[in-house]
Amino acid sequence: TWSNVEMGPPDAILGITEAFKKDSSPQKINLGVGAYRDDNGKPFVLECVKKAEQALTSGNLDKEYAPIGGTPEFCLETAKLAFGDNSPVIKDGRNMTVQGISGTGALRLGAAFFSKFYSKGKDFWIPTPSWGNHTPIFKHAGLDVKSYRYYDPNTCGFDFNGAMEDIAKIPEGNVIVLHACAHNPTGVDPKPEQWKEMSALIKKKKLFPFFDMAYQGFASGDTVKDAFALRRFIEDGHEVALAQSYAKNMGLYGERAGAFTIVCGSKEEADRNMSQMKIIIRGMYSSPPIHGARIVTKVLTTPELKNLWLGEVKGMADRIITMREKLVAGLAKEGSSRNWQHIIDQIGMFCFTGLKPDQVERLTKDFSIYLTKDGRISVAGVSSSNVDYLAKAMHEVSK
Ligand code: LMR
Repeated sequence: TWSNVEMGPPDAILGITEAFKKDSSPQKINLGVGAYRDDNGKPFVLECVKKAEQALTSGNLDKEYAPIGGTPEFCLETAKLAFGDNSPVIKDGRNMTVQGISGTGALRLGAAFFSKFYSKGKDFWIPTPSWGNHTPIFKHAGLDVKSYRYYDPNTCGFDFNGAMEDIAKIPEGNVIVLHACAHNPTGVDPKPEQWKEMSALIKKKKLFPFFDMAYQGFASGDTVKDAFALRRFIEDGHEVALAQSYAKNMGLYGERAGAFTIVCGSKEEADRNMSQMKIIIRGMYSSPPIHGARIVTKVLTTPELKNLWLGEVKGMADRIITMREKLVAGLAKEGSSRNWQHIIDQIGMFCFTGLKPDQVERLTKDFSIYLTKDGRISVAGVSSSNVDYLAKAMHEVSK
């Protein structure tokens, strides 16, 4: 029956974990997927999450279906975290917010909604490079994916002029995808002044900004600072779309908690959009999973847990910064004459090392260090006990 089905390739990011698991080297390191590890290299369950779970368990909650779009409380709290407690968007009820199945699911819902209802075309513009899953998600919903310049390999930094030139050429009405903070895979973000200019240009060109915010808190260690770009666009009068994820900043990877929002022109418009979004969700998966969303809601609505969470997000961000510094120091100690300053300058979970595909291959083959082919390392997987080995290996393949 299935003779027509060809074997597909492994996933560019998650396939790395599969290969890593098969490696028997005691020194192996997985720097592929963006998943936070503590300094002992172990998965990290946040204290605020454990406490929220304890409170939930003792509350004897039922296991009924969530509403199609998720609980109203979760949707309100997630929108407040993104736009700010006192945002006019929320006061005026202009946000259509639904729970998504983590960030990917949120993006997929957005893609489905735009594909069906956005009347100004199907072109989605993503940065070069962008998260490897953006293109498949958007294409799966029948959208056309195009790209604008973003990363400058010469400086290992943001190509502001290139981005502005390309954005200026995007046809009116098209959708532009923006990483709200901690750009994946490069770890390179626009500066606030650059965001302001981008916002003005995007407004002038009448493009629709679609934010992917999978790392709120991971760029600066502060969830408010990391929402700067999104909130600035709102101040500038944009209507925006937003995908949120709690995988990284609350460590809820497998719980699949996220959200999708469209900021509309009025509450009445938001209500109409919501009615259609519910129809889309019902046909895709009926209603979202409840446990992760309950944890998020508990953390965000309990002042003590929220404070604990904010401290833990900062703790994760700070440990990553320390590892960046240790890695660069280790490379210097090994005698590397290359300039690795970008490892320190880049932010968030990832570092775009600049290593070429053949060097990446050697890292994996000779040193059992696993990373994506584009030379991205998840700094969250680096720890005090493997950073020296990593530095040595990176020096060996790059000298
Ligand atoms: C990553 O880029 O590693 C993460 O966003 C995890 C994923 O699903 O790809």
